[in-house]
Amino acid sequence: MAKILLGPIDQFTPGSLRRVEVSQRALAFAVAVMPEGTIRVIDDLCTHANARLSDGWLEDGCLACPWHGAQFDLETGRALSLPATGRVPTHQPVVEDGFLYVEAATDDDDRGPRSSEGLDEAHLDR
Ligand code: FES
Repeated sequence: MAKILLGPIDQFTPGSLRRVEVSQRALAFAVAVMPEGTIRVIDDLCTHANARLSDGWLEDGCLACPWHGAQFDLETGRALSLPATGRVPTHQPVVEDGFLYVEAATDDDDRGPRSSEGLDEAHLDR
């Protein structure tokens, strides 16, 4: 696991959803800050047809995909509604000294299966 800087914490406001690219690692995350301030970080790629989840919206504590409306549990990444069925990888956010980081797997990690359903998995180019 690697701790990756996403930005100053004051750039992430409650009720917001935004994309953060980490170009040197070819990673992209959707960072959701719930209205009460809980931060969730999830890969920015829908398991149905590869939409950017950060272009979606927060609804009832879940993330809705902008293309076909599938909802995902932001804590587990599990698909809650069709047409998506595969789990989106989630990551542990860390706030330190005014900055938001994410603990994310790297190519050196043994990542194991990314989808609990065994269907097509979401992958970012690495
Ligand atoms: S691309 Fe996300 S539900 Fe279709």
